[in-house]
Amino acid sequence: MEIKKAEFIKSAVYANEYPKFNNFTEFSFIGRSNVGKSSLINSLTKRKNLARTSKTPGRTQLINYFLINDKIHFVDLPGYGFAKVPQAVKKNWGKIIEDYLTSDRKKIVFLLLDLRRIPSNEDMEMLKWLEHFEIEYYIIFTKSDKLSNNEKFKQLKEIKKKLVFDNEDVFFYSSLKNTGREELLKFIEEKTQN
Ligand code: GTP
Ligand code: MG
Repeated sequence: MEIKKAEFIKSAVYANEYPKFNNFTEFSFIGRSNVGKSSLINSLTKRKNLARTSKTPGRTQLINYFLINDKIHFVDLPGYGFAKVPQAVKKNWGKIIEDYLTSDRKKIVFLLLDLRRIPSNEDMEMLKWLEHFEIEYYIIFTKSDKLSNNEKFKQLKEIKKKLVFDNEDVFFYSSLKNTGREELLKFIEEKTQN
């Protein structure tokens, strides 16, 4: 798939603020703060500042909707796991995400995990939620540019001690180098046609 058009539609918190129902497939990006969700959307769309990125984790506390090629949505979800966020914000996050996951929309979720880190308890919780709500999801390992091939292999082995997944169902991505971009876009295109 070639992305010819990408535009920011709106920010939302709860379901009544999502874009009007239009039967577009939504591809949403979820994961801990700073894992690289917004950067990945920018890399896919080849737009530097479409989704706001930040070195300060926890910046995006909203659900941001983007319209791609006038026919699918990309959804940038607020990140979790940032220790310095006040308790009230954390509680609110849970409500926002639950509302989103239970919403009656055609969605495919990408769970982003930092390839350099062992998945946190919150990552595991997120995975359980996705399974509980029976949501179609795939794992993307981010920041793959930070590891050599050797290190990658070792790290995967460690991650697999905590997380069970089929190799076919995961992606490796570097937003810095756009590695994995073509493969992910192809996958999104296939999923759009289903
Ligand atoms: P929140 O909005 O806080 O939930 O974070 P986020 O998941 O949207 O992360 P964001 O895209 O803002 O990226 C966080 C930091 O990681 C930024 O400093 C990015 O430049 C950096 N980063 C993101 N992706 C990559 C990558 O593939 N490689 C490298 N080296 N750095 C990355
Ligand atoms: Mg972000």
